[in-house]
Amino acid sequence: MTSDPHRPRYHFLPPANWMNDPNGLIQWGETFHLFYQYNPAGAYHRNIHWGHATSADLLYWQHQPVALAPTPGGPDADGCWSGCAVNDYGTPTVIYTGFRLPEVQTPCLAVSHDGLLTWQKWPEPIISAPPPDLDLLGFRDHTVWREDGRWAMLIGAGIRGQGGTVLLYRSDDLRRWEYGGPLVIGDAGQFDPVWTGTLWECPDFFAVNGDHVLICSVWDQRPYYTIAMRGEYRDGRFTPSLTHKLDYGDAHFYAPQTMPIRDGRRIMFGWVMEGRSEAAVLAAGWAGVMSLPREVRLANDGQVVALPIAEVRQLRGAEQQVAPGPIMPGAPQWMPIRGAHLELEVIMLPPPHGVASVWLRASPDGAEATMLRYDRAAATLTLDRSRSSLSHEVWRDSHHAPLPLAPGEPLRLRIFLDGSLIEVFANDRRSITSRIYPSRPDSDGVAVQAAGNPAELVTMRAWEMADIWA
Ligand code: FRU
Repeated sequence: MTSDPHRPRYHFLPPANWMNDPNGLIQWGETFHLFYQYNPAGAYHRNIHWGHATSADLLYWQHQPVALAPTPGGPDADGCWSGCAVNDYGTPTVIYTGFRLPEVQTPCLAVSHDGLLTWQKWPEPIISAPPPDLDLLGFRDHTVWREDGRWAMLIGAGIRGQGGTVLLYRSDDLRRWEYGGPLVIGDAGQFDPVWTGTLWECPDFFAVNGDHVLICSVWDQRPYYTIAMRGEYRDGRFTPSLTHKLDYGDAHFYAPQTMPIRDGRRIMFGWVMEGRSEAAVLAAGWAGVMSLPREVRLANDGQVVALPIAEVRQLRGAEQQVAPGPIMPGAPQWMPIRGAHLELEVIMLPPPHGVASVWLRASPDGAEATMLRYDRAAATLTLDRSRSSLSHEVWRDSHHAPLPLAPGEPLRLRIFLDGSLIEVFANDRRSITSRIYPSRPDSDGVAVQAAGNPAELVTMRAWEMADIWA
C-alpha cells in the first residue's frame, strides 16, 4: 500500500477501505477528534460505520478503534450516517443519522463515558419521523448548537418539487425535539445564483463577523458541490443575500464540517472524493481523503472561504526556489522543481490579454500534465484535468473558479500536491480541490507558460512536505 503513488502522505485517510464525510468534529480537552463515514469491509460505500482518529495539532493523527457500528434490528441497522458531536455539560454526545434499508433515515444519539472511545446508543431515535406535512427527499445529517439557553439543530432535506432545505429543531435535553420549520428553502436553482439541487446534505450553520453562514452540500441523484450562503438569521429563519460554491472543485470538496476551537478559529475538513472508476478504486483498496485542515473566513470580496490553517507550514521540508523573470509566450518553461508531495507558492502577473498557466505533475514530454490556467479577460481560474492522466479510468472535466483580479493585482497561488490530491488556493479568496491520477513515474515536473502576451513570474517556491504517517 505504501508504494501506491496515488496515496496521499500529508492528508488524513484511514489505513484502508472507504471513507466519506467528516463527522463529529470536536476539541475535547487537549485533543481534536475526527470521526468519519467508514466502511471497514472495503473501498465501497455500504454498511457505514464511524471511523475515529485523534490529533493534538490537526496535522498528525492517531487512528482509533471504530466508534459507531450499525446495530442489527436498530434504526441504524444499515448504516451510521453523518452527524455531529457536542459537549452536553461534560458528556461527549454524538447525534447521527440511523439508516435502514430501503430508505429510512432517523436521528439517533450516543454518549461516551470513556473519553470518546466507545459509545452507548440511546435506545430510541430522538425524532421518530420527519414532519408529516412535508413531502421530503432525505432527512439526514445534523448540526447542533446552543442558542438562547436551549439546543438547536438542523437536519438536511429536500422538499419534493421545491428544492433543498434544512429543518430547524429545538430541545432542552438533546433527546426530545420540537420542530421549528424550515430554516430556508432553496428553489432548485431557478432563482438562486448557483444551482442548488433537490436535496441539501450535511448542513453547517454559524456566525462569522456578525453575519450567518449556512453551508450545505448539494445533491441531485449524485453529489454536486458544496454551497455557502451568507445572510441574516432572525426568528428561526435565514435569509441568504449571497450564495456561491464554497470550493470550485465541485463534487471533490463535499460534505465539509466545521468546529469552533478554543483559540477562536472555526476549523473545517471536507471529504475529497475519488475521481476514478469504481474498478480502479476497488483495485487500490482505499477511497476518500480529508482536505487539509482549513480555517473558515470571509474573503475580501465577501465570499466565504476556507484556507489552510497556519500550522500547515510546519509540514514544510526542504525548500526549492526559482529565480523570478518574464514568461515569454510559447512553449512551457520548465522549473527546477520536481515532486508529487509538494506545496508550491506561485505569484505571477498574468498578461492583461492572454493566459498564464502553471503545469503540475507534468511528464517531461508534456503528455501528462495538469494545467492551472488564469485568463484575465474571463476573470477565471481553471484547473484543466484533460491531460492529467494517461489512464482511461479517471475523470477529466475541468474546474472553473471566477476570480476577478484588481488592476495590477498579481495572481497568488498556494498549491498542494499529495499523490492524487490537489488543493489550490488563489488570492486568499478561492479554492479548487480535486483529484488527479498521473500514471507515469516521471510526471512530477512543474512548468509555467504564457499565451498571447508575456506574463511575469514574481515568486516560485516549493517545499517537499512531511509524511505524517512516517
Ligand atoms: C454525504 C452523505 C450524507 C450521508 C452520508 C452517508 O456524502 O450522503 O448525506 O449522511 O453521506 O454516508
